[in-house]
Amino acid sequence: MKRIETPARPGIDWAKAQSLLRRERAAFEAANPRSRELSARAAQHLMFGVPLHWMNDWGTPFALHLREASGAHLVDADGHTLVDFCLGDTGAMFGHSPAPVAQALAQQASRGLTAMLASSDAAAVGELLAQRFGLPMWQFALSATDANRYVVRWLRASSGRERLLVFNGCYHGTIEDVFVDLVGGRPVQRASLLGQVHDLTRTTVVVEFNDLAALEASLAQGDVACVLAEPAMTNIGMVLPDPGYWEAAQALIRRHGAALVMDETHTLSCGPGGYARAHGITADAVVVGKAIGGGMPCAAYGFSAEWAQRAVRTKRDAPPGHSGIGTTLTGNPMSLTAMRATLSELMTDSVYAPMLKLSTQLAQGLREVIARRGLPWCVTQLGARCEFQFRATPPRNGTQAGDALDADLEHLIHLALLNRGVLITPFHNMLLVCPQTTSADVARLLAAFDEVLGDIGQA
Ligand SMILES: Cc1ncc(COP(=O)(O)O)c(C=O)c1O
Repeated sequence: MKRIETPARPGIDWAKAQSLLRRERAAFEAANPRSRELSARAAQHLMFGVPLHWMNDWGTPFALHLREASGAHLVDADGHTLVDFCLGDTGAMFGHSPAPVAQALAQQASRGLTAMLASSDAAAVGELLAQRFGLPMWQFALSATDANRYVVRWLRASSGRERLLVFNGCYHGTIEDVFVDLVGGRPVQRASLLGQVHDLTRTTVVVEFNDLAALEASLAQGDVACVLAEPAMTNIGMVLPDPGYWEAAQALIRRHGAALVMDETHTLSCGPGGYARAHGITADAVVVGKAIGGGMPCAAYGFSAEWAQRAVRTKRDAPPGHSGIGTTLTGNPMSLTAMRATLSELMTDSVYAPMLKLSTQLAQGLREVIARRGLPWCVTQLGARCEFQFRATPPRNGTQAGDALDADLEHLIHLALLNRGVLITPFHNMLLVCPQTTSADVARLLAAFDEVLGDIGQA
């Protein structure tokens, strides 16, 4: 983790923050000898010392290793039980190893893992997806990234248009096309993207969220195949749509012949049919990943009847050979049984109701702590997910949300919370509750948050 060198952020005493950082790093090192040992061993043969390089983004002095996880809690390699508000950045939104999924997987595990054939769960999963999300035709992928990639490919192919429109500051997984930012009003390919050899700005259009005029101006050129959007942005800090925004945006998108793709991978936190269903937005395509298999690697994407017909016609008329869509293990029996269990037993109103209630309590509690500590920060809620942001009012677009990010301050707060037994997402300040999260878990988080803010605030 970097040293805190950021210039003053209102309300924060940086000398106190520096001193807390030193104490928290020392505390983490003292409390986690087994994780340290495992990190050292992993460094021999794992690049970056972890299975995937961004597992180092937690801001801990070395990687915290997991022993086991269940419900809203996980136990680290040194035996500490942590309340988990990260929940695998949404993959475990229905709790770790939810019973219906664990049982379905245990049953399927001895009956074939992969065969490249449709398993007997396939039809039922299609029916459940159609019921939940209101779109009739579905296909699968192994990650939300791939589901987005395939949807964009289908829509480009079946519209005959090249361009993709995204919102500034978006994240839709590692689908390359979306890594274009608005810098000083101009599209710029994200410099961090490794090994990218094509100029993405030629085919990706980027506009600010909540800016209808910019959306219309870009669509008016008539070459946009689809708008790929989260209904509310969640990956640069949360950005909610202005009242009436989607109603007007949908009309513009349709008028200009583009398709609207709603990536509900994170906004599934809003209800069993995602944000769009809960707010009356009619998408042409929907992508769901992460939690859709209760934590198993899988994802799904659905099309309206019209776009499904166009896609099927496009495939039928294409020359034989690879479509560029799909992977060998996609739709394997394990992922299908996991999705069936998740959709039928976890994605229900009765499972969501307590999560939404507790998340509202959590958001309110965070606001109270922030107010008590006199910090000019706001809290935004999206169903079972909420986030504190380092600005006084909720951001309206990616630029505003991005300006409020502060990696050093985030890392310090996250590390200090972790040392007090609560884990939150390493990227910005998002917290998620699952069906097993309790009021006591929320109280623990709030007490820890209060203590940490007390240690770094000017008040
Ligand atoms: C909105 C959204 N879409 C897609 C993805 C990609 O998911 P995955 O990494 O599982 O492919 C993410 C990941 O954070 C996401 O937030």
